[in-house]
Amino acid sequence: MQLSRMKNIRHAPIIQFLSQVTMPEDVISFGQGIPFFEPPFEAVNAAKKICSKPQGYQYSTDQGFRDLRKIIAEKIKKEQKVTINPDTQVMVTAGANQAFMNILLAISQPADEIIFFTPTYFNYVMAAKMIGCKPIFVSTDSSFQPDFSDLKNKITPNTKAIVTISPNNPTGAVYTPDSLKKINKLCATHSLFHISDEVYEYFIYDDTPHISPLQFDSSLSHTISLFSLSKAFSLSGYRIGYMIFPEDLLLDVLKVQDTNGIAAPSPSQAAALHAIPLGDSYCKKFFPILKRNRNHVQNIFSSLSMIHSTWTKGAYYFFVNIDSPQSSWNLAKRLIEKYRVIVLPGQMFDVEYPSFRLSYGNLSENVLQKGLNRLVEGLKEIC
Ligand SMILES: Cc1ncc(COP(=O)(O)O)c(C=O)c1O
Repeated sequence: MQLSRMKNIRHAPIIQFLSQVTMPEDVISFGQGIPFFEPPFEAVNAAKKICSKPQGYQYSTDQGFRDLRKIIAEKIKKEQKVTINPDTQVMVTAGANQAFMNILLAISQPADEIIFFTPTYFNYVMAAKMIGCKPIFVSTDSSFQPDFSDLKNKITPNTKAIVTISPNNPTGAVYTPDSLKKINKLCATHSLFHISDEVYEYFIYDDTPHISPLQFDSSLSHTISLFSLSKAFSLSGYRIGYMIFPEDLLLDVLKVQDTNGIAAPSPSQAAALHAIPLGDSYCKKFFPILKRNRNHVQNIFSSLSMIHSTWTKGAYYFFVNIDSPQSSWNLAKRLIEKYRVIVLPGQMFDVEYPSFRLSYGNLSENVLQKGLNRLVEGLKEIC
């Protein structure tokens, strides 16, 4: 049998990694990138209520409920002071991952180059490869901020888009408004798209609120913003998100959406109608716990000489460099098998140096402490 295009794509890295590990009982996971809190009651209730009605159990229009798109446009106006047209510039999707695939299919041709900053969010890199585009990696500095000289060198006539993720998974970095503006301007100058992932838009701890690159492109000519309800409203299982894009892309994203999913799940759209108007007020209630977790992890990390971590301002991740002769894959494997603690190896995120990602978003204080004790013991013995 002829091999499929997927043979050239890496395995889904988390599945592959965990399949190579002998999982002990009673393991503590810093692996999962989801928040610990429950979704808003009114959102879950709305989904339940609509399930038995035709609007809930039938397909919605491909672009999503119109009243939901209107609420999304109002949200963008209120928070980012940008006016968008709910009929031509918004699509509701089954999460941000689907939005990314949809938009990339709509804007690219095979062999186009898509620029990502490292460490990367691997699913987007995989999506680019699956559709025949070439991922190009640009480095970041020691605070995981974009390296502009590397970025400028990597733009070629084949470049189609620059992808930013701010706040960032896997690093927790929040790009400065100035950096985002510069990237957006570079895109305008070189006729590129700026694909901006804003999935962690509300998760910024010590700084001014999130600035979307939509603000730097008031006529919305080249900026595409991706949003999700998976994190801010803890609705990852509902598969619901949305994207904002230039209106001349509408017909092409509709072709993709109609083929690839038809529409986002209707009950999830009903939930979104009730969640989105809550804005950041919902997840902010839980920030004292997230901040306490973050401070705690940082204090422990600063006391360890074999690791180098950066104090980041967003999402709920630390991306840590380790002084170790071992690969990050082997190190993370040993941490699980011997010390019963899961962190994700840096290799998953397209960096070769020994490193790992730790998510502090999903754990109570007690479990966090227990997990950190195991991690410290493991690192001291292995490194
Ligand atoms: C940066 C980033 N973008 C997108 C996603 C996927 O979001 P969704 O659940 O809306 O597909 C994630 C999930 O972890 C993420 O970290």
